[in-house]
Amino acid sequence: MSDVIRSVESFVTISGHENPRFEPKHRQQRVVLAQSINGGAATIQYAMSTHIITSEEEMIEHGQLVTEIRGREIAVFHIDGEFYAYTNWCPHQSGPAFEGHVSGYRDACFDRETLEVEKEWTREDEIISCPWHGWEFDLKTGECVTKENVQVPQYDVRVEDGNVVLEV
Ligand code: FES
Repeated sequence: MSDVIRSVESFVTISGHENPRFEPKHRQQRVVLAQSINGGAATIQYAMSTHIITSEEEMIEHGQLVTEIRGREIAVFHIDGEFYAYTNWCPHQSGPAFEGHVSGYRDACFDRETLEVEKEWTREDEIISCPWHGWEFDLKTGECVTKENVQVPQYDVRVEDGNVVLEV
């Protein structure tokens, strides 16, 4: 048991969604027990450590939450049965990119010969827009869909024994 480190981390749950899963209306501060499973040697080397952030059940119920580990805000999402985690930071001007409105994406196709534009609404519940200036990010990859070659750092997240576990 000496290689098991337990620490208390604060985390923020977003709840009260207008969109039943995602749109934040208020933030609720909570304290949970975060459990670091890595050994002491790995911690000294600042290697990745493993943190239990919440139960799978709670994660599925909320759809998204923001947790703070080692001073970093990390946003975790549950979409179509998969989990995704990103730094809650916007590459534009450092806003809380993953606390904005979750929506879809309008694909447009322009035909040069007929001059017709075809529009299609896709990716419902997979695109989030930064609440500060509206940059949009793909929740399944962290890529910015409004700026080329921009991507937000992603973390490994998985379910272990009914808990959502994050590698940070
Ligand atoms: S800080 Fe996110 S769009 Fe400007």
